[in-house]
Amino acid sequence: MTEFPLLLLCLFCGATVCRAGIFTAPEQISTSSYDFIVVGAGTAGAVVASRLSENPSTTVLLIEAGGLDNGTDSAVLSIPFLAGQAIGTTFDWNYTTTSQDGLNGRTMPFPRGFVMGGSSSINNLVYSRGPSEDWDRIAATADDPSWSWDNIQPFIFRNERHVPAWNNRSDVGEYNPVVHGHGPLMSSLTSTPSELDHRVINMTTKFGQEYPFNLDLNSGWLQTTVGESARSSSSTAYLHPALNSRENLDLLLNTQVTKLTVTGAAEMNVNGVIVAQNETAVAFTFIATKEIILSAGAIGTPQILLLSGIGPSEELDKNGITTLVDSPDVGKNMQDQPIIFLQWEVNGTTLAPFLNDEDAISAVLEQYEQNKTGIAASNVLFNTIGFLRLPENSPLLEEYGDPSAGPHSAHFQFSFIDTFLQNINQVAPTTGDWITVSVVLQSPTSRGSVTLASNSAFDHPLIDPAFLTSAFDIGTVIEAVKSLQTLLTTSTWDGFIGPPFTGNLTTDAEIETFVRAAAVTLKHPVGTAAISSATQEGGVVGPNLQVKGVTGLRVVDASIFPFAVGGFPQAEVYIVAERASALIKETWNLS
Ligand SMILES: Cc1cc2nc3c(=O)[nH]c(=O)nc-3n(C[C@H](O)[C@H](O)[C@H](O)COP(=O)(O)OP(=O)(O)OC[C@H]3O[C@@H](n4cnc5c(N)ncnc54)[C@H](O)[C@@H]3O)c2cc1C
Ligand SMILES: *[C@@H]1O[C@H](CO)[C@@H](O)[C@H](O)[C@H]1NC(C)=O
Ligand SMILES: *[C@@H]1O[C@H](CO)[C@@H](O)[C@H](O)[C@H]1NC(C)=O
Ligand SMILES: *[C@@H]1O[C@H](CO)[C@@H](O)[C@H](O)[C@H]1NC(C)=O
Ligand SMILES: *[C@@H]1O[C@H](CO)[C@@H](O)[C@H](O)[C@H]1NC(C)=O
Ligand SMILES: *[C@@H]1O[C@H](CO)[C@@H](O)[C@H](O)[C@H]1NC(C)=O
Ligand SMILES: *[C@@H]1O[C@H](CO)[C@@H](O)[C@H](O)[C@H]1NC(C)=O
Ligand SMILES: *[C@@H]1O[C@H](CO)[C@@H](O)[C@H](O)[C@H]1NC(C)=O
Ligand SMILES: *[C@@H]1O[C@H](CO)[C@@H](O)[C@H](O)[C@H]1NC(C)=O
Repeated sequence: MTEFPLLLLCLFCGATVCRAGIFTAPEQISTSSYDFIVVGAGTAGAVVASRLSENPSTTVLLIEAGGLDNGTDSAVLSIPFLAGQAIGTTFDWNYTTTSQDGLNGRTMPFPRGFVMGGSSSINNLVYSRGPSEDWDRIAATADDPSWSWDNIQPFIFRNERHVPAWNNRSDVGEYNPVVHGHGPLMSSLTSTPSELDHRVINMTTKFGQEYPFNLDLNSGWLQTTVGESARSSSSTAYLHPALNSRENLDLLLNTQVTKLTVTGAAEMNVNGVIVAQNETAVAFTFIATKEIILSAGAIGTPQILLLSGIGPSEELDKNGITTLVDSPDVGKNMQDQPIIFLQWEVNGTTLAPFLNDEDAISAVLEQYEQNKTGIAASNVLFNTIGFLRLPENSPLLEEYGDPSAGPHSAHFQFSFIDTFLQNINQVAPTTGDWITVSVVLQSPTSRGSVTLASNSAFDHPLIDPAFLTSAFDIGTVIEAVKSLQTLLTTSTWDGFIGPPFTGNLTTDAEIETFVRAAAVTLKHPVGTAAISSATQEGGVVGPNLQVKGVTGLRVVDASIFPFAVGGFPQAEVYIVAERASALIKETWNLS
């Protein structure tokens, strides 16, 4: 007779409108116990909450510090052309890094999404799964072959699907249909390839030995999380559809998880979350009868673990927190990717004049508002990207070893941008045609940390990416800049590339000075609750993402990656979230 209540529920849903509860304060919720509690409605958390609530008899509470992503102020989130502009707004946590020794002691803003969808609602839309070697290395690190590239394929297909750009232009030959799936997250190519794009692609045919063309997922045409003329985030793709069709999922917004609690004083079973809306607000407790899933991201997750007494005991003592589990690697092993911009004046057509013309920009935004068409409806700033390696005989590799995931994984990355993007210490010219190539260190060996500033959940933690603090890292960025200068001397660029805005950066010392003054975060932190094998002492979570030393608690977000990703992290976070959802369902026999 177990089918009966399910059937009744479905009939009821068909007849009326079945809706989840959306709450903006903890006291609005009348129940205090759920099967699962998911902390953070970000990239990973929205996927997990949506997948777990597919089973109608399972109750799920999803708790998010930020607010709605579809209010009156949400255009900055949804319009593809505005990607990046939510930084420093109400949708950003507004973190700042600690002073960076490798960057002349500078601090810098460290954006993270503070809204439904988390960072997938504010990021730059790039969709790149990275090399297969990333996954094979995770499998090796976790000593669990189910994380291998071959074995994670179903989760890619469950997450993503390719869609046309708004203008339905043919993108045949620019991507490989066979490697795309049938999931709710939409990805697409640009609607309007630029002259710069054509030159980059031409280079990969003319100079295919040095700069090979990849049809899909790697260097070549860029794919972005845009569909039906708007950003596709974990919130638009997963969370809203679930909220609008289910009764067993509750979303609590504008509320921060401040601490996790255990069943009893002597037990190591985590089953409670304490929440509050601000430092002085009344605190509430919710209980999970099955599991708690931490998806607060690479900054929020280690902060919550530390506040709950799961971390290096010495550091916990210093902040007056009782140690539950002495777990030395919580908040450690942080890896992020620094980026700099190099600009050239060009003899050709770029977006720079358009982007310097406020009236033209108003016109495209107006057109978008009218019928969701035009330049604003797709990614336009950059549409090609290159992942490159140091030469195999590079002294850097000989001296320091190869930190990338394998022989097909990048050490550095170029994005070809169709306008002038300035570094923090530059002022952009207001006339002329310009291109920018960003140089990113893909495989850093520097290791930073997230530590507590105090025992208050409402104080930002100390975020130290430790950028360019290793000889390999600064050496690789210098080699990357030189490699870019060489690339631009190939005949593809004849008659197009003019003088560099920076003047000639020739010697290693000149390049190093430039890089240390200009580098900022690419906003890809990982590693602060890293996965490790079941038997290994180090690491924070085991192969099934369960936090070591306790029961009832998993981490599902970018914190679990043991190494900086070889592609762009959102695609890899989605894969982790889909696989984790399947693992949790398996544990609890949910179909
Ligand atoms: C500006 C920007 C641009 C980027 N560009 C790209 C790109 O183009 N391509 C790409 O692949 N990646 C990009 N990234 C990185 C990528 O978006 C992230 O790596 C990924 O989204 C992280 O997913 P996550 O689930 O780990 O964390 P998030 O998506 O950040 O989710 C964490 C969620 O937890 C919530 N939270 C945190 N603490 C608490 C708490 N105590 N209580 C309740 N809720 C809490 C947060 O508000 C947030 O919603 C970018 C990131 C940023 C910020
Ligand atoms: C981030 O800063 C902006 C600008 O000062 C502010 O409006 C916003 O509320 C801040 N975000 C948070 C989460 O406090
Ligand atoms: C693109 O195709 C869709 C589906 O066939 C159609 O609804 C839409 O009007 C087309 N858009 C344009 C700009 O051609
Ligand atoms: C690129 O190559 C194609 C054919 O090989 C040619 O038609 C096109 O003009 C070239 N474009 C540029 C910008 O060089
Ligand atoms: C915002 O999203 C929620 C959940 O999907 C929905 O109930 C609400 O109507 C939406 N609000 C607007 C203004 O679209
Ligand atoms: C803190 O939260 C409480 C209840 O949620 C609210 O009434 C109060 O205004 C908030 N205080 C501040 C300073 O935001
Ligand atoms: C959308 O609006 C613009 C004018 O703002 C118009 O030129 C264009 O034809 C319209 N497109 C569609 C598909 O309606
Ligand atoms: C600029 O491009 C035009 C047309 O492609 C070409 O004739 C001219 O020589 C170029 N100028 C320079 C300075 O390269
Ligand atoms: C930069 O180098 C080029 C080519 O070597 C040279 O022609 C030019 O004068 C140099 N510019 C500066 C500002 O040194």
